[in-house]
Amino acid sequence: MLCPWVLPVGACKGLARLIPQPAKPSSIRQTLGMDDTLAPTDDPSEVEARLAMPIAQAMLTQRQVRRVKPDPVDDRIVLRCLELALEAPSGSNLQNWQFVVVKDRAVKARLAEQYRRAWTLYGLIGRLGRTDEQATKIEKSVRWQIDHFEKIPVLVVCCLRGGYRLPFLPQPPVAASSHYGSIYPAAQNLLLAARAVGLGGALITMPLLSHTVARRILKLPLSIEPCCIVALGWPTGRYGRKARKPVGTVVHLDRYGHQPWRTFELMTGGAQGEG
Ligand SMILES: Cc1cc2nc3c(=O)[nH]c(=O)nc-3n(C[C@H](O)[C@H](O)[C@H](O)COP(=O)(O)O)c2cc1C
Repeated sequence: MLCPWVLPVGACKGLARLIPQPAKPSSIRQTLGMDDTLAPTDDPSEVEARLAMPIAQAMLTQRQVRRVKPDPVDDRIVLRCLELALEAPSGSNLQNWQFVVVKDRAVKARLAEQYRRAWTLYGLIGRLGRTDEQATKIEKSVRWQIDHFEKIPVLVVCCLRGGYRLPFLPQPPVAASSHYGSIYPAAQNLLLAARAVGLGGALITMPLLSHTVARRILKLPLSIEPCCIVALGWPTGRYGRKARKPVGTVVHLDRYGHQPWRTFELMTGGAQGEG
């Protein structure tokens, strides 16, 4: 069945008169407050109230927030967000995740060292051929994050227990996909919960460039694999705008390359991709 939000323009206009219209993304952002920053809190009832944020608002405004204040984040908030993260799916419902909450400055400093190294190496490769304004902005904010890494109040290292490679058996790519795909839904839930509460969250992987070093820093046994880090803190500024591709350019119908929705206008106004 066609998703009502991606009907042809003409049909959209006809339908628009018949059914109540959802707010356009831009107006959703205005009315729901895309750029709102919430004051830090440690009041449990305030945290619960904030977690009731409409899901579309959380999704629209959740983004990579690298610049955060050094002010502490109450452990109860971190645990509540992690509790919600655990509502995520995992392969075979194994729930084989483990989370290391890092607050110790010395541990953060060692991870920062790894981040700096990885950024010098891979950040350069990522930047090759990209001179656009967005790349420059990302570069500046990554630099800030690296330089202030020790002051970020909380780093949640998201790990998986067990591996997907069986000895002597060739593994299909889907094995790797199912394995790593078992941590990212939880990480995204964590980011969304953090956003709702008013925290800034950043998903990062570069400090884990060397698993051997990361294991040593975090005292992880071989059976536990560090996958990504969610850095959390109260944002220094606003959530800001994010750039995303229009849905019709990345969606295919029945077979790859068949993109009948490329020229279709979203009923919501198609305001995605604003930068
Ligand atoms: C698997 C993965 C790894 C990432 N690793 C890093 C990282 O190491 N450092 C970083 O600053 N951002 C990292 N990011 C964040 C992306 O740069 C970010 O999601 C993207 O720029 C979009 O940002 P926006 O939501 O603010 O538009 C990573 C994102 C993903 C999904």
